[in-house]
Amino acid sequence: MSSVQKIQDFQEVLKSRRSVRYYDSSVKISREEMTQMLEEASLAPSSVNLQPWRFVVIESPEAKAKLLPLAKFNTNQVETSSAVLAVFGDLNFPDYAEEIFSDAVKLGYMSQEVKDQRLASYLPLLNSLPVEKRRDSVLIDAGLISMQFMLVARAHGYDTNPIGGYNKEQIAEAFGLDPERHVPVMLISIGKADKAGHPSNRLSVARTTEWR
Ligand SMILES: Cc1cc2nc3c(=O)[nH]c(=O)nc-3n(C[C@H](O)[C@H](O)[C@H](O)COP(=O)(O)O)c2cc1C
Repeated sequence: MSSVQKIQDFQEVLKSRRSVRYYDSSVKISREEMTQMLEEASLAPSSVNLQPWRFVVIESPEAKAKLLPLAKFNTNQVETSSAVLAVFGDLNFPDYAEEIFSDAVKLGYMSQEVKDQRLASYLPLLNSLPVEKRRDSVLIDAGLISMQFMLVARAHGYDTNPIGGYNKEQIAEAFGLDPERHVPVMLISIGKADKAGHPSNRLSVARTTEWR
């Protein structure tokens, strides 16, 4: 049993999330709870609801040993976390439209007519997008779910660190994914903090926002 405490209050979830780089390595996260957190994170919005995010949960000692040389500047997180979530964007995301829209029809969220119209109008468009545009699209959607996952993890009482410093050329192949299809987005280490994350400041809204 872990001593991880869930957090109900959204302001507390938001304000207590910090990048944590050292974890209590005795804390394990069950597959059931990791699945629940991924399901909750998957409520994130995505372009045409096509959900192009794909994940590898790196939790076994063997998988972590494989990740370590690919994340040389972030070894503490890999070594001490309960798991590292590798987030990818799937460039073949239009292939899932039929399945997603059919499920929506079965659930009563969409009529058959709307499904047929959408498939007829969106699919040729999506399939004709140049790879750079698809790449842009999956990076946005997978970025949204990554943030949502970090907040969900915090609400479950865990700490995280988004990690961009890793070998993006080799990550997909190392974990058995097709690198032509799977765009690396980020790694997210997750566990229970052993050392608190350090406070960080933000630019004021006045510096980042124009009002018209
Ligand atoms: C896309 C992205 C990549 C990041 N890469 C790393 C990284 O490689 N190593 C690391 O220690 N932190 C990394 N960070 C964490 C940032 O340093 C951290 O979010 C920022 O300093 C603000 O601190 P906070 O997360 O505690 O609020 C990354 C954050 C993001 C969003």
